[in-house]
Amino acid sequence: MRLKSSVLSSTLLVAAVMALTGNPAVAAPVRYEAETAPATCAGTVDSNHAGYSGSGFCNADNAVGAAAQFTVTASAAGTATLGVRFANGTTTARPADAVVNGSRITTTSFEGTGAWTTWVTKTLTVSLNAGSNTIRFSPTTANGLANIDSLDVDATGGSTGGNGRPNDSNIQYYGRWNTSDSAYYAMGWAGGYLDAQFTGSSIGVRQRNAIDLYYSIDRGPLQWRRNVSGNVTLATGLSGGSHTIRIGYRERAGSYNGDPVFGGLILASGAQTMPLGRPTNLIEFIGDSITVGQPNANRPFTAYPWLSAEALGAGHTQVAQGGACLVSRDCYGMMDWFRRSSAWATYDDWNFATYQANAVVINLGTNDIGHGVSTTQFQQGYIVMLERLRQAYPNAEIFAMGVFRNRYVPETRNAVATRNAAGDTRVHFVDTAGWITAADTTDNVHPSDAGHAKIAQRLRPILDQYL
Ligand code: GCU
Ligand code: CA
Repeated sequence: MRLKSSVLSSTLLVAAVMALTGNPAVAAPVRYEAETAPATCAGTVDSNHAGYSGSGFCNADNAVGAAAQFTVTASAAGTATLGVRFANGTTTARPADAVVNGSRITTTSFEGTGAWTTWVTKTLTVSLNAGSNTIRFSPTTANGLANIDSLDVDATGGSTGGNGRPNDSNIQYYGRWNTSDSAYYAMGWAGGYLDAQFTGSSIGVRQRNAIDLYYSIDRGPLQWRRNVSGNVTLATGLSGGSHTIRIGYRERAGSYNGDPVFGGLILASGAQTMPLGRPTNLIEFIGDSITVGQPNANRPFTAYPWLSAEALGAGHTQVAQGGACLVSRDCYGMMDWFRRSSAWATYDDWNFATYQANAVVINLGTNDIGHGVSTTQFQQGYIVMLERLRQAYPNAEIFAMGVFRNRYVPETRNAVATRNAAGDTRVHFVDTAGWITAADTTDNVHPSDAGHAKIAQRLRPILDQYL
């Protein structure tokens, strides 16, 4: 379990030092207690786990939606930094939506803190209205919410608004994006997406040539806009302060030649983007058509990588291509190709300093059989891939899934054991035997949407143990 140390305590320290030196521009955050009205707690206010501030904390009922809600005041509209203090004495993350004035802004993971008496602060950036605002933490799983102690609100804001262009630093990208053309950032592999927070009552996106895109507003259900180009309006008539948007594109594959590029957000007049945090965890999934989610209509977002990562409140990338193998023998060999920015790059051009995944999941071996890869070649290749991944991501937990069609599974397991014996203990074999049957596939190979959901349900707790 790796937890970010409290950013807030250092903020408080800086604020105190500044106050002593007489700088009036820096105000300390204001603390709101979860047990004090107008805050509400859909559960009980308890005081049996030491270390809380005020007179207690909110122990919400262990149910989806059993929320802790704060009502906070901002003197002016603008950006605010929130510090939510929580404890989670279990080993399972308890993701919750952060809902500001009724709009879901992000999912916060609230991972285990080691003990119910170990309180940790998480920060997130939101946009507040002048005056009163509600901030609700609403759990998305039946495990419920972490215990919530308090919320610190630093509404000193500042001019952090952005213009929505591709290089706007308020836009958070996930996956491998080619940023060499400042007008259009290009999505390399399947499953890339971007998140942004924006003000104003409408939102759109600039596209180049025709593409199928999907989007969601305020973390609502993802919706498709097929075969669109130019200026595409995605929502109008939005109310309240700020909203979030996620946009992703259908991958180029087979005969589909859409143009998966992002040309910037189209903001309402006078509107701007706001800073948006990133989840603690980023999971990269490396695989073939199964990891893309092909051939299901709503891939990638009904595929197991997306589902399992979202359930953990984690960011995710799908470095995956239909037909891919582990070994390059007349086949996209991902042991080589995972070092590329896209499936159509011509050399190993990806710069791993762009982002660091802290978990990597490999699902490869389904296709090698058709290219005459021997078990010996497969096992050797897998070991090399694990070594290369370790170089690329020095601190990641790496998971090697046995493939569902039961191919090269002993070799996958042996490759992991070899790396463990060589001292790399953060490589794990994932035994998927029995996770799905033929009835969970569309063609004996590719999981149906329901099959993907089953896989995600099995994979999520395994990843959660290590993140
Ligand atoms: C324990 C703990 C509570 C906590 C609960 C939970 O009962 O004492 O403070 O809220 O577990 O799992 O939600
Ligand atoms: Ca509880």
